[in-house]
Amino acid sequence: MRTIDWQQDRVVAIDQTRLPHELVQMRIDTVEGLVDAVKRLAIRGAPALGAAGALGVALAARLHAGDPTTVGAAAAAIRKARPTAVNLAWGVDRAMGRLPEGADAVLTEALAVLEEDVAANRALSERGALWLMRHVTGPVTVQTHCNAGALACVEWGTALGVVRALHERGALAHVYAAETRPLLQGARLTVWELAQMNVAHTLVVDSAAATVLARGLAKAVVVGADRVTANGDVINKVGTFPLALAAAHAGVPMVVAAPESTIDLSTPTGAEVDIEIRGADEIARWGDVKVAPDGTETLNYAFDVTPAALVTAIVTERRVIHPALGGRPDDDPPAADR
Ligand code: MRU
Repeated sequence: MRTIDWQQDRVVAIDQTRLPHELVQMRIDTVEGLVDAVKRLAIRGAPALGAAGALGVALAARLHAGDPTTVGAAAAAIRKARPTAVNLAWGVDRAMGRLPEGADAVLTEALAVLEEDVAANRALSERGALWLMRHVTGPVTVQTHCNAGALACVEWGTALGVVRALHERGALAHVYAAETRPLLQGARLTVWELAQMNVAHTLVVDSAAATVLARGLAKAVVVGADRVTANGDVINKVGTFPLALAAAHAGVPMVVAAPESTIDLSTPTGAEVDIEIRGADEIARWGDVKVAPDGTETLNYAFDVTPAALVTAIVTERRVIHPALGGRPDDDPPAADR
C-alpha cells in the first residue's frame, strides 16, 4: 500500500496519527480535508507532503474545472498548511504549472511527482547504502531520528530507504531509533516500519542518542530532511541538530538522505527558513494528561537547522554532497562528487 495515492478521483492516504495501532486509509475528496490532514500530521514527511501538494491541486482542478481563481486560492491554502518542508510548495507549484492545460494535465503532473519520488528514493537509497559500506568499518549500525521511511514518502523511504538497502545487502547490523518528541514519529512510525522490515532495532529517548553515539553503538547517523538550503544547511525534525553535534563529538558521519526535490537553492542558508512552531498542548500535555502547570509558556519548534559544517554527506538520487568539506548543493555538478 502506498502512503499516498490517487484512486477513483480522490486522494487516498494512510492516516499516520492512527499508527502503530491501526493501519487505516483516509479518502480525501475536498481541499479542506487535505489541508486538515497535513496540519494534523495525518499526512507528514517532506516527500509525502510534496505528493500531497501536487495531488491537492489535482483535486482542486477537478472540483473547480474552468475556475482558475478558485483553484489558485486552493493551491495557496495547501501551500501554507505547513511552512518548513519545501516539498509541499514544490509539489503545489509543479501541478499548478499545468493548470492552463486543464485538469487532466494537472493530474498527469501530480502522478509524475509520485512516480519520480519512488524512483528517487530507490536511487538515493542505493547510493547511501554504498556510501556507508565504504565509510563504515564492518556491519553498519545506524542512529536515526523522526521517521524518514515509506510513511514519509510515497513508498520506500529516504533514511529508512538507505537502511532497507543496507539490510537487503546483509550489511546492516542494528538501528537505534530516537523516539522523536513531542509527536513520537520515531517510536510510533519508524519502529513500526523497522519491525515490518525485520530489521534489528532499539528505541531510545532523544536525549540518549548522544550516548548511543559516544559509546560506539551506532557508527553512523542517517536522517532525512525537510529542506536543504543553498549552502548545505539541513532543516529536519527538531533534535537533528543536537544529534549532529553528538555525531561530530563521537567522530561518526552525519548522513542526510533526501531527494533533489528537498534542495531549495532559492534560500541561501537555514537562517532564512520559516521553522514551524506548533501548539503548546503537544508538549504541555501527554495525550489527555496535563503535565505542565496551566498557562506554562512553551516554544514548540517542530524543526531545527543543522549547520552545513556538521553535515558529512547529503545523498540524493543524483549525487553525494559533502558540506562539512565545503561541498555545496548549488555547486556546479563536477564540484559535488558523486
Ligand atoms: O513533522 P514531520 O513528521 O512532518 O517531520 C518529518 C521530518 O522531519 C522528516 O525527517 C523529514 O520530513 C524527512 S522525511 C523523508
